[in-house]
Amino acid sequence: MPRLIIRPNKPLRGHIRVPGDKSISHRALLLGALAHGTSRISGFLPSGDCLASLTCLQALGVEITHVPVSAPRKEGEHPALVVHGRGLYGLRAPSAPLNCVRSGTTMRLLTGILAGQPFQSILTGDPQLLRRPMRRVVEPLRRMGAEIRDTDGHAPLTIRGQQLRGCDHSLPVPSAQVKSALLLAGLYADGPTVVRQPGPARDHTERMLTAMGASIAVNDLTVILSPSSLPLSPLSITIPGDFSSAAFLLVAATLVPGSEVTVENVGVNPTRTGLLDVLQAMGADIALSHAGEQGNEPVAEVTVRSSELRGVQVSGDTVVRMIDEFPVLAVAATQSHGTTTVRDAAELRVKESDRIATVVAELRALGARIEPLPDGFLIEGPTPLYGTGVDSHNDHRLAMALAVAGLIAEGETVIENAECIEDSFPGFASLMRSLGATCD
Ligand code: S3P
Repeated sequence: MPRLIIRPNKPLRGHIRVPGDKSISHRALLLGALAHGTSRISGFLPSGDCLASLTCLQALGVEITHVPVSAPRKEGEHPALVVHGRGLYGLRAPSAPLNCVRSGTTMRLLTGILAGQPFQSILTGDPQLLRRPMRRVVEPLRRMGAEIRDTDGHAPLTIRGQQLRGCDHSLPVPSAQVKSALLLAGLYADGPTVVRQPGPARDHTERMLTAMGASIAVNDLTVILSPSSLPLSPLSITIPGDFSSAAFLLVAATLVPGSEVTVENVGVNPTRTGLLDVLQAMGADIALSHAGEQGNEPVAEVTVRSSELRGVQVSGDTVVRMIDEFPVLAVAATQSHGTTTVRDAAELRVKESDRIATVVAELRALGARIEPLPDGFLIEGPTPLYGTGVDSHNDHRLAMALAVAGLIAEGETVIENAECIEDSFPGFASLMRSLGATCD
C-alpha cells in the first residue's frame, strides 16, 4: 500500500476492535525476555515497530514462538506469542548490529537493557530513526556508569555493558521511553534508581514491572526501582486495544455526519487518554462503558457519535497524556468552530517526523487554516477541506490523520508513502472499509 486513496464518505457505522497496544506490546516482549520462565502474550501487535523489538531480542538469543492453534481464528486475530525468558543475565552477545528499523521505543528501551549486559552491542536503524535524539537516554545512562558511544547525540549507539550504579534522575522532558530505559537499566544497578518526571508520561513499564514482582514504588511523578535478588516472574497477558489507534476512528466518527462507532476493549490508561478529555471539551459525543481491567491496564468500550465541535486550548500535562494524538486532533480542529491552540508540545518536533512542520504543511495542502508555533499550532475552523495529493513523510500517525481528513474533504485525497501505517496499525484500511469508508 504505497499510496492510500480516500473519498468523502457516507456515515461510518460499526462495532469493532483495534489491534493491540504498541507500547504494551514492546514492553511485554522486552520484559518477557528478562523474566525467569515462559511468558504468554495474547493480542500482541504484529506491527513494524513491535516486530523490530522481536527481531532484536531473537538476535540476543531469546526464543519467541507462537502458541499452536487448533481452532480457526477470527479475521485479524493473531496467535499468542510465547517468549522464553532468559532471566536478567541470560541474553547473548549479538553477532551483528541490532536493527531497530524505525522504532524509537525499541532503540531507547533496549539501550537501557544493554547498558547492563556483560557484552558489547550496536543499535542502529533506518535513516529516520538515526535522526531522532538519543542524548536524552544516553546521558542519564552514562551517569549510571554506562559506556555508550553515540554519533553526535544520535544512533548508531555502541554500548559496552558495565556494572551500573543506582542514580536519582530528574527528567527534563516527560518521556516514557527515557523513563523506561532508566528503569530497565535500574534492574542491573547496585542501588535504587529514582526517576522524577516533569509530567505524567505513560506508565506501562511501571505496571508491568509491578506485575512481575519487581521492587518498584510509584509516588505521583516519582518512580523508585530497587534492585532485587528475586527473578522477574513471567507474564501471562492479553494486551488491550491501542487507544492511539482507536483515536483515528473516534475522530473520524465525530467528523463524518451520521456516524456511530463503538470500539471494544480499548486501553483507557489515564496516562494515554488526554484526547478523550480534549474531544469531550470540544463537544464530542463520546461515552465509555464496560469498564474493566486487562493485563493490569484499564480497558473500556468507547462509543462515539458524530457531533459539532468547538475550538479548544491544549497545554500542560494534557499534552503528555495525548502526545501521539496531535496529528488527528489537528484534523478535528479544522472542523471546529473557533480557534484551537496547542502549546507546550515542542516534543512533536522529534517524533517520527517534525509533527508541527508536517501537520501544518499537509493540512494546509488540503485547505486548512493552520499556523505553526514553536511548541504547537493554532488552527481556525471550521474550514472546508479539498482532496489533493499529500505525503505521510513516513510518519504512520500523520498518514492516518490525513486519511481521516480525506473522509471529510471534497474530492479525492491521495496519501503517498502510506505503507508506514504498518508501523503501528496493520489492517487500518480494511478496518476503515469495514466501517463503510471508501479507501483503497
Ligand atoms: C512511547 C512513548 C512516547 C510515544 C511513543 C511511544 C512508549 O514517546 O510518543 O509513540 O512506548 O514509551 P516519548 O517517550 O519519547 O514521549
